[in-house]
Amino acid sequence: MIDTDFAFMGDYVLFSFGYYLSLRVSYIMRCAIFSRHGKVYHLDKYIIRGGNPLFGEVEISGAKNAAVAIIPAALMVEGVCRIENIPQISDADMLLTILSEMGAKVRTINKNTVEIDCTSVCREGAPYDLMRKIRASYYLIGAMLGRFGSAKTTMPGGCNFGVRPIDQHIKGMTALGAHVEVKGGFVYAEAPNGVLTGNKVYLDKVSVGATMNIMIAASKAQGKTTIENAAREPHIVDLANFLNSMGADVRGAGTDTIKIYGVEKLHGGTYTIIPDQIEAGTYMAAVAATGGEITIKNVIPKHLDCISAKLREMGVEIDEYPDYVVVRRMGKLTRANVKTQPYPGFPTDMQPQISTVLCLAEGTSVVTEGVWDNRYKYISELKKMGAEVQVDGKTAVIEGVPFLTGAPVAACDLRAGAAVVIAGLCAKGETVVEDVSYIERGYQDLVGKLNNLGADIVCVSEPDEYTSAVV
Ligand code: EPZ
Repeated sequence: MIDTDFAFMGDYVLFSFGYYLSLRVSYIMRCAIFSRHGKVYHLDKYIIRGGNPLFGEVEISGAKNAAVAIIPAALMVEGVCRIENIPQISDADMLLTILSEMGAKVRTINKNTVEIDCTSVCREGAPYDLMRKIRASYYLIGAMLGRFGSAKTTMPGGCNFGVRPIDQHIKGMTALGAHVEVKGGFVYAEAPNGVLTGNKVYLDKVSVGATMNIMIAASKAQGKTTIENAAREPHIVDLANFLNSMGADVRGAGTDTIKIYGVEKLHGGTYTIIPDQIEAGTYMAAVAATGGEITIKNVIPKHLDCISAKLREMGVEIDEYPDYVVVRRMGKLTRANVKTQPYPGFPTDMQPQISTVLCLAEGTSVVTEGVWDNRYKYISELKKMGAEVQVDGKTAVIEGVPFLTGAPVAACDLRAGAAVVIAGLCAKGETVVEDVSYIERGYQDLVGKLNNLGADIVCVSEPDEYTSAVV
């Protein structure tokens, strides 16, 4: 008996050491820091050899824009939140670091599961230098206000495609009774006697961030809050489901009217984040551009309806199953017009990717950006590869060309980065993509997943003066 136990224990020790080792290796790979000839490197570039059609299976990770709202929302919970299917992306890592620097206990269970305990978090100690690096730090306004009755955060950072105001966030917090002031790059908010009061908020513009921020803050306000003209994206519903699994009372998420009945306290619990609609759409666009056939697993086909409809219009075949889709493109691509809109319209976060595919579709296509002022910076990169596109304000007119040619390009922002990668996959010759840190903000293991589908991408790095000096 003892022998057996001993043997069992020996196996257990061996297994857990091996598991720990694999986590460390994957962590180092993930940090993309390589040590070579005594220097320490950071990943800077992708080298893509284009022309391979994509075949095989890819698994979609958790939704970035759900995760970056759910992680800050854990601040509202006094207890342990076990969050599963968190994507391994730098924006999520950054938010987990911010919470832990505020005193939260963050325990990594595995590469996509964490336990966050914000019971002993205090408002002081918020790392403002990290907050200003990402757009989603604005959720800390609602979370800190809802938890502490006051908040001090930086103005948010994030991808730069035109003005990205937060006036609707401020409108919402003010409606809940808070006094909000923006001064010197910081946002200060204070609720009278530390308590928010439910109210009706009519958003002047459909805003994902403002909808979710108000939902977070209102979940512990006194009384009922109604958000009219609310955003309806899948990640809005995911946040509402997360809050409700922690004891909140949010109703109507996914429609343009959301009602939140404030509760005293939110308790711990377990929640699994939905699959990423935009990551799935990005792989659909990739195979549309390169040709081939891929199976995209762990998706919610309903969330892809608008993307699938447009790709079918362009000659791409899509078979839908309960939790995966099969996407194939064998023939020529057909031109199409695209207008981006809030959900359930065609998502703005797929605009750069679909425009890249349209560069290869016979005929003239017109893309109209309906959400952001200036989301065409990547077009100048595509033109270096032979794309023929004219941009006028929010409209891009695309003349299809027979092929693109590899060139040195840069990722201007997260989805622009995905677009130039797709261009490199289908271009003749070699494409070098710089500034890939933008891409790593929102895509888990994009290179590994694409190479598993037959792409030929190598991550290269350059000496990082600072860390090399340290080494
Ligand atoms: C979220 O940004 C996403 N980011 C963006 O995804 C996405 O493009 C956008 O929603 C639209 O779907 C995150 O979730 C972290 P908005 P957000 O508030 O919340 C105007 C990606 O690639 N507006 O819905 O900043 C705004 O200028 C990123 O994953 C105001 O006028 O977007 C825009 O025109 C990029 N006042 C429109 O509303 C405000 O207070 C939609 O913005 C807020 C927004």
